[in-house]
Amino acid sequence: MDHFLYKNGSLHAEDVALSEIAASVGTPFYCYSSATLARHYQLFKEALDPLPNMVCFAIKSLSNVAVLKLLGDLGAGMDVVSGGEYLRAKAAGVPGDRIVFSGVGKTRAEMRLALEGGIRQFNVESEPEMRALSDVAASMGVVAPITIRVNPDVDARTHEKIATGKSENKFGIPIARAREVYAEAARLPGLDVVGIDVHIGSQLVELEPFEQAYLKVADLTAVLRADGHNIRRLDLGGGLGIPYTRSNEAPPLPLDYGALIKRTVGHLGCEIEIEPGRLIAGNAGVLVSTVIYVKNGEGRDFLILDAAMNDLVRPSMYGAHHDIVAVQEPAAAAPSQGFDVVGPVCETGDTFAKARELPLLAEGDLVAFRSAGAYGAVMASEYNTRPLIPEVLVRDDHFAVIRARPSFDEILKRDNIPEWL
Ligand code: LLP
Repeated sequence: MDHFLYKNGSLHAEDVALSEIAASVGTPFYCYSSATLARHYQLFKEALDPLPNMVCFAIKSLSNVAVLKLLGDLGAGMDVVSGGEYLRAKAAGVPGDRIVFSGVGKTRAEMRLALEGGIRQFNVESEPEMRALSDVAASMGVVAPITIRVNPDVDARTHEKIATGKSENKFGIPIARAREVYAEAARLPGLDVVGIDVHIGSQLVELEPFEQAYLKVADLTAVLRADGHNIRRLDLGGGLGIPYTRSNEAPPLPLDYGALIKRTVGHLGCEIEIEPGRLIAGNAGVLVSTVIYVKNGEGRDFLILDAAMNDLVRPSMYGAHHDIVAVQEPAAAAPSQGFDVVGPVCETGDTFAKARELPLLAEGDLVAFRSAGAYGAVMASEYNTRPLIPEVLVRDDHFAVIRARPSFDEILKRDNIPEWL
């Protein structure tokens, strides 16, 4: 459920008309609903309670500091994958003991940053990383809490670019080698082994792969405890999928996912962490854009928008589907036609949709891409020197620009012409 609905014939975010925001900030822009973000976070909390748990929002999906503050104020933890994301979490007021640090390539500088600022745990992904972290922590006279990410060799049955739990992926250590790696970790002076971490992929639309992975983690917990490790925390990753099309079969709900967690690992007495990103942010955001031209091509009509692949890369990168709707609600019996929906960027890949059935849109009309809150703004670039587009947050009947559109001056100032040119 989200809070983007037609009211009085016009698409609203909560109680604010998207057309009003467009008139104020210009298009294209991202718009997020506070109520949807909060609700999705609460759904995960309710699904895990009464197990001791922490829902750590995967910042990579939507990293605006205002959004992080909104979730952090509700009690959310944060899952970060870089020093930059760590600093975003801190800037949002999230204490270090609610921040987990994931990622295969943490640098020593990033480790130091997190150890200085406070960290709940590092999710370590390899033996070299484990040794580096122990060195860094020992050199600072502290001990780093860690889990080790195991790769359970489970097929997440999702897009190959976002599956992470197969043995051929770069993530984690093979679960078959876990005992020896944990044994070494326990011997390293700068580490405190607190638990196990697993994440098998993103946009999972069935629960079975999670079940396979979590059962393996439950078995491993028993084995590692028998080896003498004090396994007291399980980080089960993110990955629960969202409906991108209204016709699609609905993916499992957080409540069912929570029940699965309770069934597979709930009896172990461990604190449970999860790292959802997409399910919290995805349907909490839309991308609003204006039709620049309607161009009649050979056997097809192009809807040329002012948004492009640099603003929302998912369709061209993964062939992802985003529903596109007219901001002014079309009449029930209004005629429609198939459009190829494209942006102004100079490559054919800048195509959002082909032969998409839409109302008869015209120059100047507003459209909204649904489900664009996660992996939208965060993956944007300035390709074609198109400024990063603004982000707007709505709460009830008011909105604020939470990231402004940079001016061309600001963009050009970042480049430097050396004096010897
Ligand atoms: N934890 C870890 C260790 C991750 O790598 C990820 C996502 C998450 C949590 C959050 O997963 P989520 O709940 O959002 O599925 N850019 C792609 C998605 C990449 C996901 C990367 N890792 C897309 O646009 O579909």
